Amino acid sequence: MRRKLVAGNWKMHGSLTENEALLAGVLAGVAGAKTEVAVCVPFPYLAQAQAKLNGSAIAWGAQNLSQHGKGAFTGEVSAAMLRDFGCKYVIVGHSERRSLYGETDALVAEKFEAAQAAGLVPILCVGETLSEREGGITEEVVARQLDAVIGKSGVGALADAVVAYEPVWAIGTGKTATPQQAQEVHAFIRGKIAGLDPAVAEGLIIQYGGSMKASNAAELLAQPDIDGGLIGGASLVAEEFLAICKAA
Ligand code: PGA
Repeated sequence: MRRKLVAGNWKMHGSLTENEALLAGVLAGVAGAKTEVAVCVPFPYLAQAQAKLNGSAIAWGAQNLSQHGKGAFTGEVSAAMLRDFGCKYVIVGHSERRSLYGETDALVAEKFEAAQAAGLVPILCVGETLSEREGGITEEVVARQLDAVIGKSGVGALADAVVAYEPVWAIGTGKTATPQQAQEVHAFIRGKIAGLDPAVAEGLIIQYGGSMKASNAAELLAQPDIDGGLIGGASLVAEEFLAICKAA
């Protein structure tokens, strides 16, 4: 059976004091969890996450990275810098990066490659907007987003990556995809990759993200192709996040 991964995406939330309590709460409750658990924190808190989580069952990571290795790129953070702080994961191509910061499929593919080159596991986010879903082009959009990465890094690169299906209309809106809607797209993603490499498809963790919380996690996670969650809002409350980890 595929392992499951529940990852928190804190987005731009937290403070040293708040994180202290949140990480302690998650650490205290996660013991014995059968699923893999991770938190993706804002850059300034990576050192704190590393100090608190080092040696624990919880991995940590970042929410973005530069496609460049080093150089005159004011304000950017490289994959190697994330490795310096013990990151295992980095979110790549989150819909907020795509829509608010103009990240194109091509740029996302570059970031994916930079992450892997440094030994990070990219969590590649894909997903359609509401108008794309209503226009009946969900699969086309998701395929295009995947193809950009596969075209650049090869399908084999997905063996060391995670894909997160996050319908944009479900993110932070409280409007979750139904388990059937999510499963359909997850199966499409796995099927598409299976057409290129069945073994990679079989082993690939495909997370669902978009208003996943304690109350809806179990039925989403019961779907055959949903292998965990990328959790925004609910990852900021230890009990909610832990309940999702338990459901997985
Ligand atoms: P949400 O965010 O759980 O708050 O909807 C998910 C995400 O953006 O990763």
